[in-house]
This record gives sequence, C-alpha cells and structure tokens, in this order.
Amino acid sequence: MKKIIIYALVAIMLSACNNKPKQGSSDFLSVVDSAFIFAEKQSLLMAQKYETQEGRLPRTYENGKDVSSDSRWWCSGFYPGVLWYLYENDKNPEVLKYAQLYTDRVEREKYTTDNHDVGFMLYCSFGNGLRLTGDERYKEVLLIGAKSLATRYKPNVGLIRSWDHNKDKWQYPVIIDNIMNLELLLWAAKESGDSTFKAMAVSHADKTIKNHFRPDYSSFHVVSYDTITGEPHLKQTHQGYSDESAWSRGQAWGLYGYTYLYRETKDARYLEQAKNIAKFVLHHPNMPEDYIPYWDFDTPEIPNTPRDASAACIMASALVELSGFVDAELADEYMKVVEKQIRTLASPEYTAALGENGCFILKHSTGGYPFKSEVDVPMTYADYYYLEALTRLKKKYNK
Ligand code: GLY
Repeated sequence: MKKIIIYALVAIMLSACNNKPKQGSSDFLSVVDSAFIFAEKQSLLMAQKYETQEGRLPRTYENGKDVSSDSRWWCSGFYPGVLWYLYENDKNPEVLKYAQLYTDRVEREKYTTDNHDVGFMLYCSFGNGLRLTGDERYKEVLLIGAKSLATRYKPNVGLIRSWDHNKDKWQYPVIIDNIMNLELLLWAAKESGDSTFKAMAVSHADKTIKNHFRPDYSSFHVVSYDTITGEPHLKQTHQGYSDESAWSRGQAWGLYGYTYLYRETKDARYLEQAKNIAKFVLHHPNMPEDYIPYWDFDTPEIPNTPRDASAACIMASALVELSGFVDAELADEYMKVVEKQIRTLASPEYTAALGENGCFILKHSTGGYPFKSEVDVPMTYADYYYLEALTRLKKKYNK
C-alpha cells in the first residue's frame, strides 16, 4: 500500500514538472501543421519569382508592388532562413535547392564591417544551413563573418558598435537589436575555441542590461556611448514613438536575446532578464488580447494604429524557448500566450492568400513608423521568426 502511495506521488510530481502542452491543444498542432503547408507553397512561389533576378532577395510588398534588395540590406538573411526552416520541416529537395541558392546570394556579407547586422544576415541563412546540412563551406563563411562583426567591438566601450550613420548625433550608437547578433559570436567561440568572441558577447550583454533597460524592464532603442569614458551619453529612439517609449520590436529583440544568452551561457542573470522582459510585455496594459502588439506600446494612437506582427513572431519564438527554462506555472502562461499569437497569425487576418501579399506569408508588420517606412506590410523577419516559432512548437510537442 505504502509503495502504491509513493508511486502515485512520484507520478503526480513528474506530471507537475512536465512543461508539455495539455491534450486540449491537439487541434493547435493541426493549426501548426497547416501553417507549415501553406508557408511552403507560398515561399516556393516567392523562390520562383526571384530565381532569375541575379543577387536579389525579397524585402517587402508595399503599395501593391514587390520590393527586393541586394544582400547589403540588413534583412537579406531572413528569406534564406525561411527556406531552411521549411526544409527542416519537410525535406523537399526543391526547398533545399532554393535554400542553397538564396543563402549563396548573401555570402559576400561575410566581409561586412560597417554595421552589426552581419549577425542577422549570416546566422539566419548560413547558420541554419550549417545546422541542417553540416556543409563545411558554410562554417567558413560564418567564421569570417564573426571576425568581421568582432571588428566593431571597442574594448574601452565594451560593446559592438551598431551603426556608423548620424555621427554628428551619436558617438557610439548601440541599438537593442544588436543583442541578436551576439549569437554568431557565441557560435564562433564554440567552433573556433577562441574565447575572445564569447568575452565580447558577454560584455555586450552585460552592459546592455546595465544601460539599455529601465526599472520596469522596458528598453530604450538607441544608447550612444562616449568613446572616451565608455559611459552612455544619450538614450533615444529611432524607430519608436519617443525616447521614453517601449518600441515593440525592440522589446521583442531583448526578450529573444536574453533567452538565447541564457541557453548558451547558463548565466542565471540572463534568465532573470528574459523573464522580467516577458513580464513587462505580457502584462502591459496596451498589449492586445491576441498578443499581437501595436508597433509601440506607448503610442497615444492606440488602438487606431498598426500592429507589428514581426514583434509577435519574435516574442512567440522566444517564449517557446523560454518556457523550457522556467517553472511549470510560468511555462504554462508563456505557452498560452504563444498559442493565442500563433492562432491569430495563422488566421486569414494575418496570413495572406496563396500568391497574394507579394508571396510573403504574413501581413501587418511595421518597420519604421516615424518615417512612414514599411508600415503595415509583410516583412521577411516576421515570416522567419514565425516559422522558427512553429518549428520550436513542433519540437516541443513531439518530444
Ligand atoms: N533591426 C532593425 C529593426 O528591427 O527594424
């Protein structure tokens, strides 16, 4: 009898620790599967569209027109990344062919030293390609890219410099988005055995906690450092509503950034930071019920202002990962949010019809609202983090 009680208690404890979704979400899995099926069809149409346009990559679809870019645009790696996530989900050789083709279009960015975005460009394209194929050539590209990114680190400031423009205003601008590009450095440290890459990433992450975040764990967009003292001399916005506001995608970058920084370093401070950012965004009074944020949490135009689906996608992907690092109660809260976000994004309100929306998957992202640039349009990075979130969900559910 005693034994039976002990077995029962162990079973109850094990089920309490289990972060897997409940049975009730089985229809949610079919939403995820259908989203993948549609995404593959739509993204193949995109691949065919640009196949013969040498060097071009999709950027957005605005005012009824396709907008493409060359590899210099900060988003060049996202569309190849979309194709890699599709290939991971369904080993379709046609998808592989296009993933390789569009990844190669980004290769020259391995020499980029004039902005921090080389991390986005290469890690989303070549990084996923390496993970899924083990292609040694991809490894070489990533290592050269990491060295290029590292040239932007100034030891007495202790951070990677994000931008070189607006030199009259900012001495050494660092944007919250930059937290995303440290993943390439952490990968390079592991791959090469050169711990300098990791030291740079950790210093950047630590100084960002110190200087980019407010007491409520919202973040500034741009912090510019004094190049002599290494201390901030300005805290401002560029794409947000105001210097003091919480620009939604910036909050999403921070959440995602500290989540993977915890995964890679196991430093509990990064986990705390991610949890605190999650608390700020998920409990913000201006967060809509469907958890697709407006482009800035503090714009007085809410609710008559565009959403930013890309911020929701980045948050969803981060929250799936973060849910694996926290207790069952918090994991449950995060996964309920993710489910709402994905159901909303997968609905016709956000998912395009086949062949429409410039062949992008999702609608309603916002790039630079203050300069009326890319407002309420599709974006490669929304599609990329959406597919990453779906991939992470499938892995979590099928464990
Ligand atoms: N990294 C630029 C943006 O998030 O718009």
